[in-house]
Amino acid sequence: MKHLISPQDLTVNELDDILALAGKIYRNKEKYSKICDGKKLATLFYEPSTRTRLSFESAMLSLGGSVLGFSSADSSSAAKGESVADTIRVISFYADICAMRHPKEGAPLVASKFSSIPIINAGDGGHNHPTQTFTDLLTIKELKGSLEGLTIGVCGDLKFGRTVHSLINAMIRYPGTKFVMISPDELRIPDYLRKEALDDNNIPYIETNNLESVLPELDILYMTRVQRERFFNEEDYIRLKDSFILDNNKLKLAREDMLILHPLPRVNEIATEVDSDERAVYFKQANFGVFVRMALIMNMLNIEDPYKEENI
Ligand code: CP
Repeated sequence: MKHLISPQDLTVNELDDILALAGKIYRNKEKYSKICDGKKLATLFYEPSTRTRLSFESAMLSLGGSVLGFSSADSSSAAKGESVADTIRVISFYADICAMRHPKEGAPLVASKFSSIPIINAGDGGHNHPTQTFTDLLTIKELKGSLEGLTIGVCGDLKFGRTVHSLINAMIRYPGTKFVMISPDELRIPDYLRKEALDDNNIPYIETNNLESVLPELDILYMTRVQRERFFNEEDYIRLKDSFILDNNKLKLAREDMLILHPLPRVNEIATEVDSDERAVYFKQANFGVFVRMALIMNMLNIEDPYKEENI
């Protein structure tokens, strides 16, 4: 039984195989349109989502399978007090695989202990969001050609931003990665991540609160929104929410081949005028999310690629 709770649950080779399969599916979508015939995906979302839930559902439907689930805790028996453990025991009878998003860190891990179907963490609190990271990696691989030797600027809410935490944990495994952490002092990456992911692995990084000064160095700029839902008080959120706003004027400082990624949703941190810049790839990124989830579903259901030997 495979579960995906954090990006490190897959080896680099396994992840590279999934990205390669996702690339093949991207270029040959029709060939994979019946491969999950008869399989069901449950999407259990206790927290709001547009991209993750709908791209999972689109992925399963595009593979010929079907989907069921709920999009808020209020519309499930969680509202009556049912535990995640009891819910997943029951959902295991109804579906073959499950994607779960939950506001509490560790909830998908708890579900995996009681589940008889594969669990995919679709975002747990401020902790991890592995399938967003696989989306990010596929975007970089397809558009840059390689995941090695990149200087990656991560900008915004590095404290609560689970997409950043998962991205750091995934990219430290590729040679030559350097990080530039751009955030207000109060939203710096958590100490455990700085120590366990960066310091213990001798990964080069700097921390700064000045976006303009580091823009010329970057191969990738990964923008994130300040996570209103994780703040304990609204005043702090309002004070910090517009700490960094990328606009066309600032972009003049960046390299011509820098890519701008964002997991979305965007609030104010990227001016809409940037959307027409060729370096802005965040909507392409959201599209890649479908193909990487198609490949992941196949992998976790142990469905072999029928075109494995073909260079399609
Ligand atoms: N990137 C992402 O997780 O978006 P949603 O919250 O819309 O799923």
